[in-house]
Amino acid sequence: MTRDIPAFGLPDRNRQVILHDRPTGIPQAQHFRLATAPVPDPAMGEILVRNIYLSVDPAQRGWAADVANYSPPVPLGEPMRALAVGQVVRSRADGFAEGDFVYGFFGWQDYAAVPPTAVLHRCIEDLPLEAFASLCGINGVTAWLALTGLGRPRAGDTLVVSTAAGSVGSFVGQIGKGLGCRTIGLTGSDAKVAECQARFGYDVALNYHTADLDAALAQAAPGGVNVYYDNTGGPILDTVLRRMAVGGRVVQCGTAAVASWSPPPTGPRNEREILARRLVWSGFVIFDHMDSYAEACAALTDLHAQGRITWTTDMQQGLDQAPGAIAALYDGRNTGKSLIYIG
Ligand SMILES: NC(=O)c1ccc[n+]([C@@H]2O[C@H](COP(=O)([O-])OP(=O)(O)OC[C@H]3O[C@@H](n4cnc5c(N)ncnc54)[C@H](OP(=O)(O)O)[C@@H]3O)[C@@H](O)[C@H]2O)c1
Repeated sequence: MTRDIPAFGLPDRNRQVILHDRPTGIPQAQHFRLATAPVPDPAMGEILVRNIYLSVDPAQRGWAADVANYSPPVPLGEPMRALAVGQVVRSRADGFAEGDFVYGFFGWQDYAAVPPTAVLHRCIEDLPLEAFASLCGINGVTAWLALTGLGRPRAGDTLVVSTAAGSVGSFVGQIGKGLGCRTIGLTGSDAKVAECQARFGYDVALNYHTADLDAALAQAAPGGVNVYYDNTGGPILDTVLRRMAVGGRVVQCGTAAVASWSPPPTGPRNEREILARRLVWSGFVIFDHMDSYAEACAALTDLHAQGRITWTTDMQQGLDQAPGAIAALYDGRNTGKSLIYIG
């Protein structure tokens, strides 16, 4: 696919977004500062990537925090860890050529000198470049692998999805619908409810701020919920658990509603729901599944080519948008995949 990227020279400076204060909750703009450094020189075995689209992900909250997590915290004074889509502008690594487009851990900055292990995916499919940070980014691939692998939906199942209008949630709803499920989306505004139904094909969509969720779920899923794809935890999860069908599967993909992780939060206890409903409750982290990434991306690209999956992108412009972008995501201000164009 021809990429519509303007020709550029190599400026001799690298603008960066530095993590300079450790957040205790959701990272705010004041936890970051803008800085400039020389453009790095790739060592032997490395590539120099010029970033085009910076990704904004809820996971960055965990990467910025100093709490037990699946990956170590970003050191203070370093560029914020982030996924990005970029172009290889210098290669000293086998298998990478200048001009290749890649998606991976390149940070919130203009340039990154990285080893090939930082690359999650090469942008070779016939898709718009920004789709490599959504459909074929961790969002689409997580939705595909976690739903099919852990949720194991069957035709006729009722599937409930939280953050249903967001990037992961919108893919989960569409994939589930395609597999024959009745889909119920939970989201945070009436505009997003409308988008869930009109664009992402949900059979039912509910605004969890205004609906009586328990009563609405009882009505929308009279036979119980077979698969709950949970991106929030907290009170929404507590409510859905009490509406699960016997033998249901809960996929724990995110915990957006959990305000603080330290000390570990406790709340309504759900052990009895797990027991009485014989539930299977599974956690998922995409970085455990890199061997399946290309296969999932191929399946998603195929669905897109058949007109069976779509996405929304929430595009901002300019590196200076990055510091406040994680807080905006947790405020629900994004519609679709949050990206920052710095090309
Ligand atoms: N486990 C993994 O490997 C993996 C990989 C990728 C993503 N994820 C998780 O998937 C989830 C969605 O990620 P995404 O990138 O697609 O983000 P997103 O859904 O596009 O954006 C985050 C959304 O979370 C919702 N939200 C924020 N605070 C909330 C709260 N207190 N209660 C309920 N909803 C809240 C907001 O939607 P509303 O306006 O609808 O409230 C917001 O738009 C996140 O939890 C993320 O951590 C996990």
